[in-house]
Order: sequence, then structure tokens, then C-alpha cells
Amino acid sequence: MAEPLLRVQSLRLDIADHERSRSILLDVNFDVRPNEVMGLVGESGSGKTLTALTIMRLLPPAASVSEGRIELGGRDLLRLTESEMRQVRGSKVAMIFQNPRAALNPLMRAGDQVARALLLHRELSRAEARRQAVELLRHAGISDAESRARAYPHQLSGGMAQRVLIAMMLACRPDLLIADEPTTGLDVTIQAQIFELIKKLQAETGASLLLITHDLGVVSEVCQRVAVMYAGQIMEQAPVAELFHHPSHPYTERLLGSILRVDQAAELDPSRAIAFASIDYDNPGCRFANRCPYVLEACWVRRPVPRRLAEDHIVYCHLRNEGAS
Ligand SMILES: Nc1ncnc2c1ncn2[C@@H]1O[C@H](COP(=O)(O)OP(=O)(O)OP(=O)(O)O)[C@@H](O)[C@H]1O
Ligand SMILES: [Mg+2]
Repeated sequence: MAEPLLRVQSLRLDIADHERSRSILLDVNFDVRPNEVMGLVGESGSGKTLTALTIMRLLPPAASVSEGRIELGGRDLLRLTESEMRQVRGSKVAMIFQNPRAALNPLMRAGDQVARALLLHRELSRAEARRQAVELLRHAGISDAESRARAYPHQLSGGMAQRVLIAMMLACRPDLLIADEPTTGLDVTIQAQIFELIKKLQAETGASLLLITHDLGVVSEVCQRVAVMYAGQIMEQAPVAELFHHPSHPYTERLLGSILRVDQAAELDPSRAIAFASIDYDNPGCRFANRCPYVLEACWVRRPVPRRLAEDHIVYCHLRNEGAS
């Protein structure tokens, strides 16, 4: 099996909140292989965006990594200097954000933003960068790219703005793309088009994609493998078909149940389709324990060790470890 492109190991991220510090991410482990679409799924507040921002090293000031490694192509990103990291961002790993309009510069024309991304990574004349920028916009599915290149972000629809961001990413030719809920707020047909575009470009460029979403429907259409995250911990990881047919963690079962049973509610607001009990960051065991229908004594005491159920299928659950150790 090919060496992973990205390997996140034992990642722990602490956030200072008033007087206390909480480990918002704890013992996060997953990898992304070359030329693979890997999903990271979990409900709102589970730590998906913070995981992505930690990989990009674009963390809010209150946050700090206290444990772990993030290897990209064998290099630990957490140990790079800021200027080395700037080289990595864009050229090796690039991210599309939850809100495309906010990620664009409101004062700069769309085409110029793509051209600037090109100039950052390649030796080109300005005129050539502009020409290639229009080409990239066209490649990102923008019809009439010539005139759209002259538009400012507020003149673009949400779907168009996301296409501009995708064109900017293409300009950088990264090995790894991270797309964080890239279609939030877009209507369903546009969402489908954007996913099609992302899949097509991923296949064309051979880049790997880490796709962050709360929507298992999206995962089933776009991803090969998926990691399920809850309250900053990975609960389960598996190839997509395996996860859908043999979910092993009670939280995964619940996520799957929520798309099957309450699909109408999920359409209104999928991230909130599951009833909420507050997230229990203080439990030294499994953070899902206070919502788990099958909770055991051990779940309050220690984090379950990972159990391999099948090729590439790993679960962190005491239920599955009973009698195993
Ligand atoms: N700057 C911050 N300061 C303090 N807490 C934060 C900060 N950013 C995020 N958090 C907390 O960390 C947890 C994880 O947040 P994160 O944004 O990673 O979740 P998410 O899985 O991306 O959720 P969503 O699906 O809503 O985007 C949340 O409880 C959130 O309140
Ligand atoms: Mg998020």
C-alpha cells in the first residue's frame, strides 16, 4: 500500500477559554493517501474545521497544539518555521473554506485574485498570469470567464465565488486539497455541480482531497474512505461502503440513522438533526459516553484503544473491545 501523503498522529489541540484550557481535539489519528478522497465527517462543533486549520497552521491565537505530528510527504508540519510553512501553504496544501465570499478579497477583481495566486507560485509575466487566470476560471466551470474575471466578489453568486476559489487552488497545484464544507449555503443543484467539479479536478490533477462535511450523503457520493469525528475524537474510520454496511461505533450508527429516519429534518438543518446533549470534554474516557445508549463503566474511565475490524476499518469503542484484550 502506498505511503500516506498526510498522516495525522496523536494530535491534541488545546484552547484556552476564560480560566481553563480544554483539549478540543484529543488523540486524533487519520491519514490521507495519494490520489484519494478522504472524508472527515461529524456534526457541528465536532472539531472538523479546527483539524483542518491545524494542518494549515492557521489557528486562532487561543489554540495550541500540545501533542502529535502532522506529516505531509514525510515532513512534520508542526515543526516547520513560519516561513517554511508559508511555502507549504498553497504549493503543497491548499484549503477551500466554509464561506467562499469571506475567503475572497472584496476589493479585488476575481481574475486578479486568481492571477495573484499564479504569480505566487510561478514565474510568469502579469499579462500571462491574467491570461492563465481566465483559463482557470473557465476550467472551474465559469462560463463567460473573460467578463467574470473583471467582477468583484459581491457581484458573484455563492456558487460562482466558490468556483473562483477552486480556480485559485488549481493555480497552486497542491498535493493535498482540504475542502471545508465547500457548499454550505448553496442551493442543492449548485452543491451537486460543485461536488462534480471538485471530483473531476481531483481526478485530473491527481491531488488528494480531504473533504470535510457533516453530510454522510455527500461522503457516500464523493469519498473513498471516511473518518467519523465526535467532540474532537475520531470514533471510527473505514472505507465508505464498509462504514455504510457495517457501522461499528454507536455514534456512526446514530449519524447513519439520522439520515435514514429524519431525512426531512436533515434537509432543513442536517448538522442539528441529532438531539443534543452537551459535549462532554471532561470525560477521560469516550466523549460520546453521555449520549451513548450502550455505555459501559470503562467508557467513563479510559479512551478505548483502536480496534481493527477489517482492512482499513478501525473503531474506538469499548463495546468492540470487550473480551478482546
Ligand atoms: N477560536 C475559538 N475559540 C474557542 N473555541 C473555539 C474556537 N474555534 C472553535 N472553537 C470550539 O471548538 C469546537 C470545534 O469547532 P470547529 O469549528 O472545529 O467545529 P466543526 O466540526 O467545524 O463545526 P461546524 O460543522 O459547525 O463547522 C467547538 O466547540 C467550538 O466552539
Ligand atoms: Mg466547521
